[in-house]
Amino acid sequence: MNIPSMPDDLKPVVVNENAHVVLEKRYFQKDEEGLPRENAEQMFWRVASVIAAEEAKYEKSPYADVATLANEFYELMTSYRFLPNSPTLMNAGTRLGQLAACFVLPVGDSMEEIFESVKNAALIHKSGGGTGFSFSRLRQKDAMVGSTGGVASGPLSFLRIFNTATEQVKQGGTRRGANMGILRIDHPDIMEFIAAKERDGELNNFNLSVALTERFMKAVEKNEDYELVAPHTGDVTGTLKARDVFNRLVCKAWESGDPGIIFLDRINRDNPTPAQGDMESTNPCGEQPLLPYEACNLGSINLGLMVREGDEPEIDWDELKRVVHMSVRFLDNVIDASRYPLPEITEKVRTNRKIGLGVMGFADLLFQLRIPYDSQEALILAERVIKFVREQARSASKALAAERSPFPAYAESVFGEQNLGPYRNATTTTVAPTGTLSIIAGCSSGIEPLFALSFTRHVMDGAKLTEVNPHFEKALRDAGAWSENLMKDITRKGSIAKMDHLPAEIRRVFVTAMDIAPEWHLRMQAAFQKYTDNAVSKTVNLPNSATKKDIHDIYWMAYEQGCKGVTVYRDGCKAVQVLYTGEGE
Ligand code: CDP
Repeated sequence: MNIPSMPDDLKPVVVNENAHVVLEKRYFQKDEEGLPRENAEQMFWRVASVIAAEEAKYEKSPYADVATLANEFYELMTSYRFLPNSPTLMNAGTRLGQLAACFVLPVGDSMEEIFESVKNAALIHKSGGGTGFSFSRLRQKDAMVGSTGGVASGPLSFLRIFNTATEQVKQGGTRRGANMGILRIDHPDIMEFIAAKERDGELNNFNLSVALTERFMKAVEKNEDYELVAPHTGDVTGTLKARDVFNRLVCKAWESGDPGIIFLDRINRDNPTPAQGDMESTNPCGEQPLLPYEACNLGSINLGLMVREGDEPEIDWDELKRVVHMSVRFLDNVIDASRYPLPEITEKVRTNRKIGLGVMGFADLLFQLRIPYDSQEALILAERVIKFVREQARSASKALAAERSPFPAYAESVFGEQNLGPYRNATTTTVAPTGTLSIIAGCSSGIEPLFALSFTRHVMDGAKLTEVNPHFEKALRDAGAWSENLMKDITRKGSIAKMDHLPAEIRRVFVTAMDIAPEWHLRMQAAFQKYTDNAVSKTVNLPNSATKKDIHDIYWMAYEQGCKGVTVYRDGCKAVQVLYTGEGE
């Protein structure tokens, strides 16, 4: 493959201080002594050139010259308008070459299959990806095991083995392994699963989510019993009162944030390739449901940079359209450039060619447009933006299908059946958390409100980073309200909600996660979900004083408003938090 060499006059990259720490620690290629052997320009060129090089094999490509495309990709990333997920930045052009963040692996009901999955998960972690699994197919604890005459140890005991294995394999050698563990609500071991993370530190390499069915939710509504079913025989093993189980779920989420919930029927209603079977799990952070052995690469557009400045700042729709089209080409090329750790995965990925383009910097966008996050106007804007992104992403995917051919499973997919016209990708949109990408781009993460206007961030290996939102700082300065003492006060408190001496408009616009009532968090998630192919990563943050009823209501709202899942987090309910307000923690 002809990879264009780095031009001498490449534009230098502006790297903010926090990004520099993260890039140097985890993203730059290292020599044998562990010292970085590239800088930001070289890293972004490595990625841009390798992803652009894939273009050469497509005869109908509008790019006669791969170097031109590499330059455009370089500009797209280094202007921080778009970034691909971390494994692409870390591994493009390296020996490893695994570029996707999200994987789902099957776990079958036999020793061979379980340990095959443990092994495969380790290979994926080693390559930099995160894995999701459903444990619903494993027979329940104490069920008979035919081959030995003994009894089964159940999903929970195997989950612990996956957890321990993850502990020993740092992802790609650079970040902590991330997993999602799912169990269906009608699995006989569900109560044990719900309580699995009640002790701090237990299963700490896993997020857990209970897969709820519509049948179960109806039973909760009508206060009925529902049946538990042995997965390996289909026998009913007992019944439980749906409301009791639901309340238990709420109680544990109130205590520790785990487990979350996913709505399985809804996820499968949006399965674009049902002929290939059901989706039973998502990736670790919940935004990407996938088929067993499927992987997906993500990328995010920085909405904070899609603003046309002026007296009345507004979204630059033409620019957003241009960036979406470039990003879709980029992500489709990533599929070809990526080397997956298992042949089953390569085959599945190449069959469906899923990509997940999403957004970050949404809170920055709202700040610039002076729209409070917890307002009807913000919801309307959210829907408009994500609808536009999806329309444009699909139109870009259609254009690529004409250039390159549709994804191989197109004919058997829902698009083929409904004659919706060929797409290059079975899905195009996902809203990711952008935990690290947002640090690199210096923007607010995903669609989250700011956690605090100024805060201290703990990153790997005990490093600490202090961040002040630049839009907020500018607004304070413009209003003549900025002072060093005020900034110190804000860093201590995180929020300005109670600072009556500040202008009312500033207090209304610059709201933080904890100022925002939980139902607004949820409404925002639902607004984005409405026009997202895959799912939306969002944490519904609650104050420490939130009650179990608050969480109950949020779960119920998520169900009614069409979300695919929900994660809540009550401030202070875990011993170690990733983000803190206040100095010196
Ligand atoms: O910002 P970045 O691209 O690093 O990741 P993210 O948007 O916060 O997370 C996207 C996905 O990357 C997650 O849902 C996981 O599938 C994966 N991930 C992981 O495997 N390990 C991590 N430590 C973080 C994310």
